[in-house]
Amino acid sequence: MENDSLTKSSGGFFSRPVKTVGGELVVPGDKSISHRAILLGSISDGISNFQGFLNSDDCLATMMALRSMGVHINLEGTDVRIVGVGLQGLTMPKKQLDLGNSGTAMRLLAGMLSAQSFSSVLTGDESLRARPMKRVTVPLSKMGSVINTEDGLPPLRIQGGNNLVGIDYTLPIASAQVKSALLIAGLWAKGPTIVRSPGPSRDHTERMLKSMGVGMLNHTEEVVSLDGPATLKPTDQTIPGDFSSAAFFIVAGLLASHEGLLIRNVGINPTRTGLLTILKKMGGSIDLLNKREFGTEPVADIFVKKSKLKGIEIDQNLVPLAIDEFPVIFVAAAYADGYTTVAGAQELRYKESDRLHVMSIGLQEIGIETKEIDDGLIIKGGVVHGGCVDSYGDHRIAMSFAVAGLASQAVIQVKRTDEVSTSFPNFLELANSSGFAIEPFIAAKPLKG
Ligand code: S3P
Repeated sequence: MENDSLTKSSGGFFSRPVKTVGGELVVPGDKSISHRAILLGSISDGISNFQGFLNSDDCLATMMALRSMGVHINLEGTDVRIVGVGLQGLTMPKKQLDLGNSGTAMRLLAGMLSAQSFSSVLTGDESLRARPMKRVTVPLSKMGSVINTEDGLPPLRIQGGNNLVGIDYTLPIASAQVKSALLIAGLWAKGPTIVRSPGPSRDHTERMLKSMGVGMLNHTEEVVSLDGPATLKPTDQTIPGDFSSAAFFIVAGLLASHEGLLIRNVGINPTRTGLLTILKKMGGSIDLLNKREFGTEPVADIFVKKSKLKGIEIDQNLVPLAIDEFPVIFVAAAYADGYTTVAGAQELRYKESDRLHVMSIGLQEIGIETKEIDDGLIIKGGVVHGGCVDSYGDHRIAMSFAVAGLASQAVIQVKRTDEVSTSFPNFLELANSSGFAIEPFIAAKPLKG
């Protein structure tokens, strides 16, 4: 586990219990789709426009990386205009590419940069430099890429000038980041790139590639493939609201919205919405209204109301479909009657923090009994007393405990919350405008050394 000197976070917040939350809100654009918009728009043959781009630290890291490889990208509010340079137009960055906290940026760029004529180095913050990269470097090297790591960890030193060939690769675990890295590398590779998965994972790359004229040979839960080299046509799309950001408000509504809370324009791609299946099984009142499409992605307005929740055994098949939502699912479980268990969720240990461990100790701090198992967590619903928890610099942990504070007996203090800006920069304002009582504080910076 990281120690205090390892994260940049110095701020925190208090989340106080409230009587109710409600009204309407719009969450910012989808993080996964915003990364792909920059990456794929940059290598298309022309000008692409995206509305609803997520202006957060993670997506800005991807944008800065592509700018430093010669791509003109103009961002005004949430409108982004990208002057694509085609498959052969990227230029060598002058410096290492610092991707901050973003695993998605690093893994997807590893695929893109493996196919370039120039060498490059990808690095990031302490949290990102502790995240496993072999899952992406091993299959990329089978395609002909040469990448050096520090024992499987970043920085990634990617050699230029290698001609890639397509491979037929089976992922050991379902991962959209690895699948996407291989598909992106496959755009330059000779012959078919075929990626097989043991289960579903988010398919935003496949959808966006199709919308840009790339023929996907296969696009199912089990196998995706394309034939390289391929060219990309520019596109004009609106990015839906991020389901993973909406998740905090969905659980907030279930815990504390007497009149109901409406979250508009949320992406409901079925590879992302495992949370809905899980919460409905727990007894949550959730309605999807006004279903429609933004480009190639399905969208709806989500209406949630305070509900009596019961603990459940979470179906392991739902884990990849709710992979980023487990911190807030565990909060719902803390307020549910009885036990909630999840297994088959080892991957949660390799996210921005070890989310099984950090949630387990955080919930204990606020009065909830938990038991960590190798690949999961058991939570006994009970009375949330309040207390002080550490997010370990993990944005989703910080926001989950903000939600936990809504219905707690007393205030919850959350430490190290600066990283909320990696995915949801206006979380505090939006949460408070719907009735949360979150108050930020600045802590003294820990002394190093
Ligand atoms: C992402 C994929 C997921 C998710 C991450 C974003 C993506 O990881 O956890 O936050 O944009 O492709 P996996 O690679 O485990 O699917």
